[in-house]
Amino acid sequence: MAKKWKNYTHKTLLRNLRRPFNRRSAFKRLAEYHSVDRSLDERIGWAMRFGGGGYFRIKTLQIRSEITALAKALEELKPKTILEIGTARGGTLLIWSSLASKKVVSCDMQDMSIQGELLRALPPPASDCEVQLLSGNSHDENFRQQVENELNGELVDMLFIDGDHTEKGVEADYRDYHHLVRPGGIIAFHDIVESQPLEINQVYYFWKRLKQEGVQTEEFVNDRDQCGFGIGIVRVPETAS
Ligand SMILES: C[S@@+](CC[C@H](N)C(=O)[O-])C[C@H]1O[C@@H](n2cnc3c(N)ncnc32)[C@H](O)[C@@H]1O
Repeated sequence: MAKKWKNYTHKTLLRNLRRPFNRRSAFKRLAEYHSVDRSLDERIGWAMRFGGGGYFRIKTLQIRSEITALAKALEELKPKTILEIGTARGGTLLIWSSLASKKVVSCDMQDMSIQGELLRALPPPASDCEVQLLSGNSHDENFRQQVENELNGELVDMLFIDGDHTEKGVEADYRDYHHLVRPGGIIAFHDIVESQPLEINQVYYFWKRLKQEGVQTEEFVNDRDQCGFGIGIVRVPETAS
């Protein structure tokens, strides 16, 4: 325990010492990313390889073909507003912030006060998109209220569920947030394939139940035999049935 604590403080200390340097180089990378108008494919490439260090590292753990298929489906909706559960290192947020014309609300349990200035600066220069970061547990009633307040009655074009990967956690996020998606909008789940590297990645079990209940789904899976990843989407019907 003492050793773990020692390692933790050492790591945090180094992170904090390198903070000014990492901040400077991340904003330099951001300026390069913003320097020209980029295609969707290029923006996805940046999300995967933005780089940076410490608090200012941006990356996403996604399979390129899968996240590209989702981004294209989303682009077709000409999205105004997106809600993401699971910011992590802001990789998918970089993509959403380049597609939404008005707002991305991105939520995570982690405190994002240090990297927040970088993540809020992600939308391209010509975009009016605003990034709102909310730190808290998506399963808390107060937190859900905070998300709803942030959306101020506006329904989102996509809800991306990529936070708590336990079966109960994914089910709760779907149950508690799906009503915030507009008719014709998308609810997307990450890590839907059965074989997963971590036992707590249980999205597959909830995803399977949704399909058994007759919910219309689409899947973006690079390789049916892969371990981990896989994106599943549900399109909210245009008219209530
Ligand atoms: C797989 S990562 C998200 C990756 C990110 N969407 C991307 O691809 O760039 C999952 C994140 O969800 C967050 N998380 C887990 N459970 C959560 C919860 N109940 N509420 C909010 N965030 C949660 C974790 O802190 C972690 O940063």
